[in-house]
Amino acid sequence: MTDLLTLTNVHTHIGRYHILHGVDFAIPEHQTTMLLGRNGAGKTTTLRTIMGLWAASSGQITLAGQRIEAMATPDIARLGIGYVPESMAVFSDLTVKENLVLAARDGPLDDNRLEWIFGFFPALKRFWLSRAGGLSGGQKQMLSIARAIVEPRKLLLIDEPTKGLAPAIIGALIECFAEIKRSGVTILLVEQNFHVAQRIGDAVLVMDNGRIVHRGAMAALAEDTLLQERLLGLSLEAHQ
Ligand SMILES: Nc1ncnc2c1ncn2[C@@H]1O[C@H](COP(=O)(O)OP(=O)(O)OP(=O)(O)O)[C@@H](O)[C@H]1O
Ligand SMILES: [Mg+2]
Repeated sequence: MTDLLTLTNVHTHIGRYHILHGVDFAIPEHQTTMLLGRNGAGKTTTLRTIMGLWAASSGQITLAGQRIEAMATPDIARLGIGYVPESMAVFSDLTVKENLVLAARDGPLDDNRLEWIFGFFPALKRFWLSRAGGLSGGQKQMLSIARAIVEPRKLLLIDEPTKGLAPAIIGALIECFAEIKRSGVTILLVEQNFHVAQRIGDAVLVMDNGRIVHRGAMAALAEDTLLQERLLGLSLEAHQ
């Protein structure tokens, strides 16, 4: 199995705060890897550091063999990384169509790709010419994900996509992530809901205090309730 993305001893400071304390992991190609951890563990900071939105103060980040930790964000994105940030990234005053046109860096929208996206997010077709600000929370999240995949990507970084959404919409997103993976994309996904995480993930990383404290198969962690409790403070009853 080839690794698409590798972080080696990555440290990140935000102002004078030392947030990431030597993050080490590798993301295998064509798999979905979950990044879990308590609030404030450093999950969002990790994704932002990969995208160059925070500069790594030391360490190495490699995408498909290329060092990227010193590159500017637009250049990193151009290598084929799509990013769905924690707070949905849509322009409320623009239509659904305009949001996608702006997200497409390489030219006009591709009709076949749009039909593929509409296949799992039919609401985007229905509201094609409507203002994004009028969409529901779930539909905005769908648009935010659609923006990240409007062109082919090697890797998708997705930060807490299901937060605050209704179960039916979460189900649609889970289907969508499975379909994106089937198309050959590698996914790194932050998720707080363990029951959702275990349905999506092949592999899992757990962070605490700016470090990776566990790495392994998602199925193995899903079976080990003691380990879940130790790593995540989860009591399964509380998360049913
Ligand atoms: N802009 C910032 N300025 C100062 N500290 C920050 C900033 N952003 C994040 N931090 C701090 O960095 C640490 C890690 O935050 P981060 O957002 O990466 O955590 P997280 O794992 O994504 O948490 P959550 O589950 O709440 O989204 C926290 O202690 C947070 O307070
Ligand atoms: Mg976060």
